[in-house]
This record gives sequence, structure tokens and C-alpha cells, in this order.
Amino acid sequence: MQLSEKKRPRVMSGMRPTGKIHLGHLVGALQQWVRYCETADPYFEIADLHAYTTSFSDPQSIRDARNDMVIDWLAAGIDPQKCTIYLQSAIPEISELHVLLGMITPLSWLERVPTWKSQIGELGQHIATYGFLGYPLLQLCDIAIFRGERVPVGRDQLAHLEFGREVVRRFNYLYGEGKEILTEPEGTLSDFPEIPGTDGRKMSKSYDNAILIADDETTTAKKVRSMVTDPLKIRRHDAGRPEVCPVFALWKIVNPDHVPWVDRNCRSGELGCVQDKTDFAASLNEFLQPIRERRAEIAKDPRYVERIIDVGSQKARAIAAQTLHDVKRAMKLV
Ligand code: TRP
Repeated sequence: MQLSEKKRPRVMSGMRPTGKIHLGHLVGALQQWVRYCETADPYFEIADLHAYTTSFSDPQSIRDARNDMVIDWLAAGIDPQKCTIYLQSAIPEISELHVLLGMITPLSWLERVPTWKSQIGELGQHIATYGFLGYPLLQLCDIAIFRGERVPVGRDQLAHLEFGREVVRRFNYLYGEGKEILTEPEGTLSDFPEIPGTDGRKMSKSYDNAILIADDETTTAKKVRSMVTDPLKIRRHDAGRPEVCPVFALWKIVNPDHVPWVDRNCRSGELGCVQDKTDFAASLNEFLQPIRERRAEIAKDPRYVERIIDVGSQKARAIAAQTLHDVKRAMKLV
């Protein structure tokens, strides 16, 4: 037991508590996390400090989203016995490491991470803070403090991982004296790294195009009815192009067995978009039903979730303290 646990790779990933979990999180990240519970030694973080980098003016929403998000994780099948779930802000060692690594991180490395400019463009100049510039460094600290080897993330996060690897290499070069004090993390992508939302753009809370796990069946059906399809398929019997249709992309996830049938009948003009969406809404609700039932069950006992986070944070903190000690020793601080 002890030995096989030792051999399991250390996996670390996290999500910001900025709202309810949607289908994109479920198939992009959570299903991968569930598998890691069986094969790895995973650490899953509620990245509340990261949430403050963009939502600093709304602390209550971050506080409210924290437990809700963990309920969604558990409902999706994350087994709290097989992973460590913890709160980033409850591990002050992460913040201390952030200060230390900040000393060796060139500003130009942070400025060239693509999310820095693109997010300011999207969300506005008000988020151009010191904290937000440091977002990828804080993320590296999350990973490095647990010596994370593999980091399951979405495609948009790979640049953060690449940046993080450079910082680790620089740290080991400056202070390691030939040893690897910090571990270089590696990003892993899921089979479905990005899924489209109702408007065809990437599913995201900020685009208001997301289908939530916590939605009820009627809301889900309404959202599916509003989905865009092939813009050239105007009348029911027009031949459609499934490859440009977001509903088709979601069919592949929700019910792969049905995909060849939809493909054939959409192309031939046999299947109209209205009918397809009605079928899809039913299938999607069926797919989400067991998760929603578990969600309702878990939500009945808020103390259960609190306890999972407390116990996980205590365990995580002990490991973080050890890594921080090694870092400080290498830097001649202790
Ligand atoms: N930046 C990640 C996201 O927005 C969330 C995150 C924070 C994270 N810390 C992390 C992901 C550490 C992986 C590892 O999705």
C-alpha cells in the first residue's frame, strides 16, 4: 500500500471560485480529475486568491462560490478519500513562496504570457494590477509547493505552465547547487480540451453561453433551444454541416453513439435543427441527471463539505511547509 502510493505521480490542479461549474469544466477538467483519483496522488485547489485577481471588488461572490464549487466537484465524481481538496488562502506557504519566487522572475516573462494582454483587452484596464500580472507565478507556486508533476488543464493554461517551468529552471539553476529543489511541472490536456457554448464560442461563464451542472431541466432545455447551429441551414430540409454546428460538437460528448445518425440525417436534410435540439436537450438532461441528483444530496449537508476542505487544507499545509523550508534553505534564508 505504502509503496504503490509512493509511485503514484503527484497531480495538482485547481479552479477559481468565480461561479457555478458548467459542462465545459465537467468534460474539460473534472472527468480527467476523476480518473486521476484512481491513478495518481491528486491535489485539487480552490484557487480563491486567483479569483481576487479579477473579482477583487466582489469578495462575497468568491466566498459564496467556494463551497458550491466543491459540491460540483464531488457531484461530478471526485472522491474526497482519494484526493486532497484544499483552499489556497488557507495555505499561507503558497503566498510566501510567491514573494520569494517574485525576486527571480523577470517582468518581461510575465508580460509576454498571452493571457495578460488578452484578458485586459476583454475585461478592461481595471484588472491591470500587480496581482493580476503575477497570476501565472502564483499558479506556479500552487503547483511547485506540492511538487506537482502533472497538471491537467485546459488549452488556454498551457502558456502558464510553460512560464512556470522556466521559473523552476531558473530557481534550480540559481540555488539548487546541482540539485532539483523544485519540480518542473508538465501540463496534460483532456480529450475534450475546449467545448463550445450555446453561441458557438468557447463555453465560458464570462460569455454567458454556459450550460451549468446546477441548472434545472427546463433551464437546460431553454438554453439548448437558443443554441446556434449551421448558419447556412435555414430551412428544415436544407443540408447541414455538422462540423460547424455547436450542438453536434456537444452530441459527441453527451452521446457518442448517436453521432453517426445525426451526422447522416443532418447532411441529408432529413433532420431539422429544431428536432435535433429537442432530442439533444433530452439526452443532455439524461446525461446530467445523476450528477444533479448527487449535487442536491451533497448540498443538504454544508458541514460535510466544510470538513472535507478543512481536513484537506491541514494535510496540504504540512506538505507545503516542507517544500517552503527546502526553498528557504536553498536561498540561505534559514
Ligand atoms: N488558472 C487556472 C484556471 O483558470 C486555475 C488554477 C489556479 C490552476 N491554480 C492552478 C490550475 C494550479 C492548475 C494548477 O483554470
